[in-house]
Amino acid sequence: MREIQIDLAAIRGNYLTLKKTFAPAKVMAVIKANAYGHGMHEIAAALEQVSVDQLGVADLTEALELRSAGVRAPIMCWLLGPADDLQLAKESGIALGISTLSNLARVPSDALIHIKIDTGLGRNGFMLDQLPAVIEIVKDRKLTIAGVFSHIANTSEAEDWEQNSKFQEALALLDAAGIEVETRHLAASAAALSYSEMHYDMVRCGLIVYGLNPFDDRQLDQVSLSPAMRVSAEIINIKQVAKGQGVSYGYRFVTQEPTRLGLVPFGYAEGMPRVSVGAKVLINGKLLPVVGSIAMDQFVIDLGSTAAEIGDEVVIFGNAAAGEPTAEQLGESSGSINYEIVTRIGGRANRVYLGQ
Ligand SMILES: Cc1ncc(COP(=O)(O)O)c(C=O)c1O
Repeated sequence: MREIQIDLAAIRGNYLTLKKTFAPAKVMAVIKANAYGHGMHEIAAALEQVSVDQLGVADLTEALELRSAGVRAPIMCWLLGPADDLQLAKESGIALGISTLSNLARVPSDALIHIKIDTGLGRNGFMLDQLPAVIEIVKDRKLTIAGVFSHIANTSEAEDWEQNSKFQEALALLDAAGIEVETRHLAASAAALSYSEMHYDMVRCGLIVYGLNPFDDRQLDQVSLSPAMRVSAEIINIKQVAKGQGVSYGYRFVTQEPTRLGLVPFGYAEGMPRVSVGAKVLINGKLLPVVGSIAMDQFVIDLGSTAAEIGDEVVIFGNAAAGEPTAEQLGESSGSINYEIVTRIGGRANRVYLGQ
């Protein structure tokens, strides 16, 4: 009745395309938050088939879960809390993104440590004026630094370059203190595609591994990638209604003429945004409007005169190349972005993995 198809061949193909595009930099595939809703374990297994350079997650629990499931690829995590078991992380061979002096002081000395610099995002990472304290701890504890990294805010070109300058300043400070760094990494999807100067030794790619566009103001035309997720449901009810029929809670839509309404069992419990306005779905080759409020379990389409029957497929989003609506469009219809759409999609929908 509701299906989320994930094409693992598309994931592998996208990763290999990105490897070629960003060579000689290594490519970390970011699979946090259940691989942006695509299924962390399945995506990790698919990427291991193409010898992924590095997997990235936010939480240590995600990293440990991958290790417990038998993933052998290098894994890094970077959102650490004060109670996270850094000894266990080290024993599990998980690289740690360190952003606080307290974690730097307690991280096992032979762990894989990546120092995070806040070059302007204002979230995690050390400010440049904290680096003398970082250097002191690194020297006192004789720590080996596997990597130094930061994250770009994608605010404007000028601000991105300013972050790059701060990153270089941080690298220079560490270098001047005699701290050697093996892997420097700054760019995620958008910056990696926009600035080759920001590739350094590795790029960290999330959204583009899944074949989605990380830009909110331009097309993704530098590389050819395939969206891996296709979400569909089927029509479970069709009825003829008169002009003036209110549709769904609050009657946000009232029919302006006699029409046929189709019911689709896919609601905000499945991650369909409740506030979506102007979203379209594909039925029998035609894009048709979603009308009225999205409910917990269902939404309504104005079928008009389109030939459709109970049981017909409704594509909610998938691949633009096949004429299907996209996750970007569904994001736009609800004041959101494709990142959020794919990450929260799920609920009771059946997941099917293709291309295993
Ligand atoms: C530190 C870090 N690096 C890389 C990524 C991947 O970002 P994107 O999906 O835009 O490639 C993220 C995701 O938010 C992140 O937090």
